[in-house]
Amino acid sequence: MGTETRLQFRDQLVAIWRRSDELFSLIPDDKWFERSIGLRHPILFYLGHLPAFAWNQVCGGVLDAGHLDQRLDHLFARGIDPEDTAGAAAQSINHGHWPSVTETIAYRDRVRKAIVESIDEVLARPDDLLCENGRILHLVIEHEVMHHETLLYMLAECPPGMIRRPEHVAAPAAGDGRPAEVMAIAAGRAVIGAAWHEIEFGWDNEFPRTEVDVRKFRIDSLPVRNADWRAFYLKNQRDDSLFPHSWVHNGRGLQVKTVFGPVPFELASGWPVQVTGEQAARYCAARGGRLPTEAELRRAAYTTPDGATRTYPWGDDSPTPAHGNFGFSSWYPAPVGEASAGISAWGVMELVGNGWEWTSTPFAPLQGFQAWARTYPGYSTDFFDDAHDVVFGASWATDLKLLRPSFRNWYRRNYPYPFTSFRVVRS
Ligand code: AVJ
Ligand code: FE
Repeated sequence: MGTETRLQFRDQLVAIWRRSDELFSLIPDDKWFERSIGLRHPILFYLGHLPAFAWNQVCGGVLDAGHLDQRLDHLFARGIDPEDTAGAAAQSINHGHWPSVTETIAYRDRVRKAIVESIDEVLARPDDLLCENGRILHLVIEHEVMHHETLLYMLAECPPGMIRRPEHVAAPAAGDGRPAEVMAIAAGRAVIGAAWHEIEFGWDNEFPRTEVDVRKFRIDSLPVRNADWRAFYLKNQRDDSLFPHSWVHNGRGLQVKTVFGPVPFELASGWPVQVTGEQAARYCAARGGRLPTEAELRRAAYTTPDGATRTYPWGDDSPTPAHGNFGFSSWYPAPVGEASAGISAWGVMELVGNGWEWTSTPFAPLQGFQAWARTYPGYSTDFFDDAHDVVFGASWATDLKLLRPSFRNWYRRNYPYPFTSFRVVRS
């Protein structure tokens, strides 16, 4: 691999670090030890986790360079995904033991320098699977952009007023969106994952390429909106267990949470509703339907009625904001149905963008799965536990690099925080 590749990796790293810095600049100086989500570490952890992960994978891992800072490499090595807050307390480390923000930033900058200086050495070892195609660099880059999204959904849980919208971020778009239409999808094949040589980089859970037979089904053209969910909630006598965690009832009435504080319900009425997978399944059942499987959403997104396949729901053109709400073209969800250029060959809209979508498919290995990254064997295997379901698509906070068709994401099915909504299907 030549100079060009080296510069491409350097530029990508610089770009994602700029985004990281932009996101962490949203944190007020006295809020680094805030734990907006009881199930997660305080915000400071993420400031240290991104560099620690990069060091541990690239320098400490593949290049065998040992430790940069033994204590911090270890302290910031892993996040937590406990079942409950008691588990979180057990897995977490006490506030008093965290380093200062200044110390963490100094550590981050040492790591960044070391990573840039390691690119050549990584690319010089193509006989190592983790270095071939710069895989370990892709892995570090994608890990960091996934954490941008994690950080943002944590910020949406912070007390109102804590996170201020910077001037360059546009205000949210209001609107009722559009009601869903029912589209018919013919029986046929769907592809999950990719062949090893088909893509330059993919996570372990994306391999091998797997073809699945899908029966004919009907699917809503658009996701369920906040307004649709409110009607359902009222019909169920305001059953507490159906109140979305993404909503809040405060002195200003019913509001919908965003990264920059709650907004009036009316403004967000047309946005996809953010609920847990369990809540979503109850809505579908009440409508005489069910959640789609991962294979069904892939069939609706990436195949055509005449048997062809596509890179994106809209075809093979590179993604732009006209195709969907992803890649930070906005910092909020949008009323459903606006990104009409993103429509799939079957007439289904917003499959990629404007929120991940719950499926009924437990996150599990594809047949022939191998944890190929010896420095990170637990990336997926730690979550093959029947408590996590596959989510499909992308949200406004999903980097364009993750829009490849083989990319797979997942969350605990009762986890309410991520930017995840859903749509209804019927057999
Ligand atoms: C793939 C988004 C579910 O956030 O738990 C980050 C990504 N794994 N660090 C998560 C991840 C370890 C992961 N998801
Ligand atoms: Fe992580």
